[in-house]
Amino acid sequence: MPSFDKITLLPEDPIFSLYSTFQNDPRPHKVNLAIGIYQDESGRVPLLECVRQAEEAIVKSAQPKSYLPIDGHPEMIRETLELVYGSIPDNTVSMQVLGGTSGLRVGAEFLKSQGLTTIFLPEPSWPNHIQIFEHAGLSIAFYPYYDAVSQSLDFSGLRASVLTMPPDSILLLQVCCHNPTGMDLTLSQWQELEGLIKQKRLFPFFDFAYQGFGKGIEEDAEPVRLFARQGHPMMVSSSFSKNFGLYGERVGLLSIVNAGNIHKIASHMKVLIRSSYSNPPRHGASLVAEVLKTPELKKMWAREVLGMRQRLSDMRQGLLTRLKGKDRLLNALSQQQGLFFLSGLDSGKVRRLRDDFALYLLENGRLNIAGLNPGDLDRVAKALDSVL
Ligand SMILES: Cc1ncc(COP(=O)(O)O)c(C=O)c1O
Repeated sequence: MPSFDKITLLPEDPIFSLYSTFQNDPRPHKVNLAIGIYQDESGRVPLLECVRQAEEAIVKSAQPKSYLPIDGHPEMIRETLELVYGSIPDNTVSMQVLGGTSGLRVGAEFLKSQGLTTIFLPEPSWPNHIQIFEHAGLSIAFYPYYDAVSQSLDFSGLRASVLTMPPDSILLLQVCCHNPTGMDLTLSQWQELEGLIKQKRLFPFFDFAYQGFGKGIEEDAEPVRLFARQGHPMMVSSSFSKNFGLYGERVGLLSIVNAGNIHKIASHMKVLIRSSYSNPPRHGASLVAEVLKTPELKKMWAREVLGMRQRLSDMRQGLLTRLKGKDRLLNALSQQQGLFFLSGLDSGKVRRLRDDFALYLLENGRLNIAGLNPGDLDRVAKALDSVL
């Protein structure tokens, strides 16, 4: 029997451990702007009405809870492909996965098994990217994405870096509402990048966790559709955690398009899944399928996503009009979209905000706009101004 006496203590996940510190904070006026979840004005993760109605219909129909196929719920897969690509692409392999995280992991394990070795991540990126890809056996490298001094997108750095990448490198691209900077490429920058990626024979891996939270459900998918139309072999990891509020249900889709022999690719992905969690969970996928295939529910979902997007934009605007702070910061805030605002505050200032004002940001100065509500705006802006 192993004694595990040499085992080391690994650090807790910084986002989830900050969340538990927040929950134990007795101060009544505390505000959690740390964890990346959408919250409504009352600070709750909403149960979308379209999801509630879909759930009612599913419960009423009392279907058996047998296993799904290894590749998942067929209707959910079909509807998701339509949502992401605008139509069902030819030459596609799709696997229902456990949220965006598992799409990234399964995709990375597949790419590693096919001899790809290195993935380039934006600097900065969602911290979990690093350990997902390390655990899949890939080497991690970075490309410039954001200039912290000017608080703006560093497209020329990105371009120069892509030109030096060896062929068959994987390029991780966040499609919209970039985590943590909130800064996205313009369509013409995506077009230029598409040409460079083709020229350098790189493999684009899109992380699509926030469809609908940027400019719109269709508009946000445009970069993915552009690359797919141009015939790139590519992968997309889509998540329904945020835009359906299905965080704990773990629903996502990993798709690969323009990639040659789809039957052989599917056979490898199925072995990866079968040897890990065997087959994906039924309930969340049934909810997504029910909403997307039922025209009234799909319309309701689009309205609810619009409402969430509108609230994010209102809170961003509310902060923008109240902050007296520096021009650069205000400029950055006005350009960013989605859940996140990278404030540029260092860890000392972040700690002061937590200790003195009960305001919780991530250590890197990232702030979740959806943690704000109209009643907090004045106080939050004052607190931010006081440390700037
Ligand atoms: C950029 C990015 N990718 C992927 C994910 C994964 O989301 P989930 O696994 O909860 O669907 C997140 C979640 O915060 C994210 O911010």
